[in-house]
This record gives sequence, structure tokens and C-alpha cells, in this order.
Amino acid sequence: MKRILSGVQPTGTLHIGNYYGAIQQHLELQDEAKDPAAAFYFIANYHALTTIQDAEHLRGLTRDVALDYLALGLDPAKASFFRQSDIPEVAECTWLLSCCTGMGLLERAHSYKDKVARGVKPSMGLFSYPVLMASDILIYRSSVVPVGKDQQQHVEMAQDMAQSFNAAFGAEVFVRPEWRFSAGAKVPGVDGEKMSKSYGNTIPIFCPADMSSKKVFKTYFARIVTDSRGVDEPKDKDDTLMQLYRLLDPAGAEEFAPLYVKGGIGYGDLKKRLHAAYEERFGPLRERRAELAADSSYVEGVLEEGAARARAVAREVMAAAREASGLAVGAKTHPAR
Ligand code: TRP
Repeated sequence: MKRILSGVQPTGTLHIGNYYGAIQQHLELQDEAKDPAAAFYFIANYHALTTIQDAEHLRGLTRDVALDYLALGLDPAKASFFRQSDIPEVAECTWLLSCCTGMGLLERAHSYKDKVARGVKPSMGLFSYPVLMASDILIYRSSVVPVGKDQQQHVEMAQDMAQSFNAAFGAEVFVRPEWRFSAGAKVPGVDGEKMSKSYGNTIPIFCPADMSSKKVFKTYFARIVTDSRGVDEPKDKDDTLMQLYRLLDPAGAEEFAPLYVKGGIGYGDLKKRLHAAYEERFGPLRERRAELAADSSYVEGVLEEGAARARAVAREVMAAAREASGLAVGAKTHPAR
């Protein structure tokens, strides 16, 4: 079986850049898999500890990501969805891989340098972040890892680690994973740069429940930068507003583009349309999210069921890794527990 796997860090409110760049593809892939054993998605809370060290905050963000994914359409009948930390074997696997990973490989990681440059505390955990990620991937013998471009190097490092472990112990314990880019679009933020939490230019998928529609418009849509062209002037069919419109409502944008290019339509008009398209796209899901939020036993049940499935695979692969590396004694592949 070709297993698809991806993780999402619970480090902030998910935004429409996350949606069109990655989440949408995760949801499409679950339809390809149609088997919860073939599509694994998890909330990477061990990874989040590299930047968030506040228990309540981490618990809240973890729950938010779970609600977001379920509201957006993650279907537990088609994919397993779980918290990374419910599979503690992942941490053990990280150690085994660490011992087969050269310092040089990790020293070449862009994301470590980028994060330190942005002011993240350079801890051991941050440095070995790629080993933990390789462990996530390899412990389930994942074949396909849908990720954004920024994570390509991490998946390549996982390929190297699988190979080094297997070579060191002369056993085919881990399989080589392949990355797959999100077919997902490049999503501009309100300032026209790539939409990213670290640039502070995001539009959330789900705005806070107590935020009025007017406030949503003012906070996000009115702020989208444009040049100073007047109402009558012809506009650029690929400007930031149009790029966002095309994502939120492809058919509407197609129809609208010729009028926009001709002139006679102001930026303010398109901002209103964009807001309406956003409401139409995500409004009903916001209600679904509120229902889920009120039913924590359902959400917890989904995560536990997902974890049970993932953990069974992880234990099997770890048994092979313990055996190959000489940790297991005789037939006893797991410690007593
Ligand atoms: N590092 C990924 C990110 O920040 C999240 C992640 C953790 C992940 N483990 C993974 C993604 C395993 C794919 C596979 O986006």
C-alpha cells in the first residue's frame, strides 16, 4: 500500500494561504486514498514545542487545528487524523535516526538557519527538527509526502536518513519517501507578498466567532494593497485582488476579469466582492466548525481512533528497527509495558 502522510504544526491560526497551498490538497488526497490506513494526517505538536512553551496555548492551538481540519472536510472514514504525541514511538525512532545522521546533513538545513535568524531560540530540538520529521515519515513507511516547497529539503533529509539507517544495520526497515508538491497555488497576502504567518499578512480561514462581518471586511479585505489607479482606469487582471478572487471563486473571477481590465470598476468594489466570495466559501464551514467545537467527545474520538491506527503501524516498524539495531532481545521486540 502506498501511504500518504503529512503533518501540520499547531503554531497559529490557519489562514487561506495554508488552505489553498496545502490543506486543500490533503483533502483531495484523502479522496484518492479512500482508506484511512492509506492517508495519515497528524497535528505536529512535538514539533510545535520548538517554538511554543506554554501548555494551555499549545493545547488550544492543537484543538483549533483539529477543528479546522474536520470543519474543512477531513473525513475520518477516508483518512486517519491524530496528534503526533499520541504516538510516542516517534520520539524513540527519532533517537535511532539521530544516531545514523551526520551533523553535516543537519547543518545544511535552511529552515534551522531561517528560524534562528527570525529570533527562534536555537535549541537542540530546533536543530534536530528534521530528524523528528523524518521519524514521522519513516515510522509509518510513508511513500508520498505532500508538502510545500519550504519542506522539500526536510523530505530529502528523510530519504537520506532511511538510507543511512538501512545501510548501517543491513536491513530494509525504512522505505524511501517521495515528496509531492501541493498542486496548490501561491497565495498572496494582504500586502502582496506570499501569505505567511511570519509576515503578518494573513487572512484566517476562520475568523474569531465574535468578529462582525463588517470588522472582518475592515481588518482583512479593506487592507489589501493596491496601487492608486482610479475607478475608471483599466486594472491588472493578475493583481493581488484578482489572484485572491480566482482562488475563492474561480468562475466568478473569470467572468469578472474582462470588466476589471476595461476600467470602470474600483478596487473597493472588488474588495467587497472578494469578501462576499470568502463568506460564501467559508461561512457555512464556520457553522460546521462551531458544531464540532461543541462536541468535544466526537473530535476526541476521531483523534483517538486515528492514533490507534497509526500506532499499530508505528509499533510494527519500531519492532523491526529495534530488531535490526540490536536493541531487541530475542523474540522480545518491545519493552515490557
Ligand atoms: N515541518 C512541517 C511544517 O512545518 C510539519 C511536519 C512535521 C510534517 N512532520 C511532518 C510535514 C511530516 C510532512 C511530514 O509544515
